[in-house]
Amino acid sequence: MRKEARYLALREHLRPWQEVWGYSVLKSWDSMKACIGAEVLAAFSSMDLAEQYEFLNGREVSDLPEGVAAWHRSLNPLVHLSRMPLANAIEGPREEGLTPKKNHEIACILKFLEKQEPSWEQLLDIGGGAGHLARHIAAQWSLDTVSIDREALFQQEGLRLLQRRPWKNLIQKPFQFVTGIFPDCLETSDAWNPHRPTLSVGLHTCGPLAWEHLKLVSEHVVVLNFGCCYDKLQLEKDLEQSVVARENPMGWTAEALFLMTRGGKERGFDDFRFQHRVQLYRFALHHFLQDELGLKDFVPVGQTAARHYRGSFASYAANRLEQMKLPMPCSESAIEDYFQKQEAMLEEQWTAALLRNRMARPLEVLLILDRAMLFEERGYQSELYEIFNPQLSPRNIGILLKPCKGP
Ligand SMILES: C[S@@+](CC[C@H](N)C(=O)[O-])C[C@H]1O[C@@H](n2cnc3c(N)ncnc32)[C@H](O)[C@@H]1O
Repeated sequence: MRKEARYLALREHLRPWQEVWGYSVLKSWDSMKACIGAEVLAAFSSMDLAEQYEFLNGREVSDLPEGVAAWHRSLNPLVHLSRMPLANAIEGPREEGLTPKKNHEIACILKFLEKQEPSWEQLLDIGGGAGHLARHIAAQWSLDTVSIDREALFQQEGLRLLQRRPWKNLIQKPFQFVTGIFPDCLETSDAWNPHRPTLSVGLHTCGPLAWEHLKLVSEHVVVLNFGCCYDKLQLEKDLEQSVVARENPMGWTAEALFLMTRGGKERGFDDFRFQHRVQLYRFALHHFLQDELGLKDFVPVGQTAARHYRGSFASYAANRLEQMKLPMPCSESAIEDYFQKQEAMLEEQWTAALLRNRMARPLEVLLILDRAMLFEERGYQSELYEIFNPQLSPRNIGILLKPCKGP
């Protein structure tokens, strides 16, 4: 499917739900409830948790109102991107210093790059941290390498590894760490030559760094970028850069950017069931603080140990009130009664949270399409791939930018 058509179709699916994905449940409950509608809320509230779990993970469920069922079904092909075969973990001395997640990411990227008929002479790693990815690519294709990061501490760890075996023998060409803020630091550095065939990688370039990285693409530079930390993007300047997106805006919000950082990974059912309990208790405590303690402003209730969610709501609330240095306004049995009375509404709010979470990945795909479309509009080739197993690394969408081949 062409990117523009996919973007527009995703937008058509998501835009009517903007009140749901765009805001947090507690802060915007009335408008969210109106947007979802009584029929859909009732249908979800009558589903059991196992069915809700299937829904969240994009699978078919019975008893959904027809409109929502069709919407749910048709989201799947719209978020589906080319999936690259996953690689086996790196083993032996080369795995030193890698977490299982980093190991998986690097192994999959190496496998992906093998398919790209590499003919690069230079490697430029943006936001490279300790340079783990750069080290592996540089060793495999014998490239002159520059790894840029603003944190010298990470780079010191990378330098330490480079000076020891096996890397001492595996890295044949110059490997340089540049410490500084990208892109400014490149302007004053002669560490790389923009006219040599270059691969530039950016593995989990947080927030706006992704845009800066993508802009490196040129006649000589191929870019492979993975974004992350969308909540660090600025609403006014880091979204809707392509013409298509500017002409078809989404109404992004800070809460939506945060939501996208949470999607992609399927949690086990036991975890899901536990989250249901956690959410209900958290929602209930918010209402309780407003209704019984008169705290009308939004008060963060914080996290607490898992065991506090496993007992009754009253004991959870007592613990939280104590932690927050707030008085107990009534007996534990009155608190328990309060919870029972609120339960129907709490289940509706849980439904709203479920719908929001269902939209996290579609929103992320839409945001990444905007990035890819901008560079197509500028005359480059852009391709999107799912390169990592989302269970290990949920921000797994790679954008590959290349110069266009001649006519
Ligand atoms: C999520 S980490 C990824 C690190 C590494 N690529 C990896 O996958 O292990 C993002 C890195 O980007 C760096 N960073 C963020 N913004 C930067 C900027 N404008 N210039 C240079 N480094 C930056 C951070 O210091 C951090 O090390």
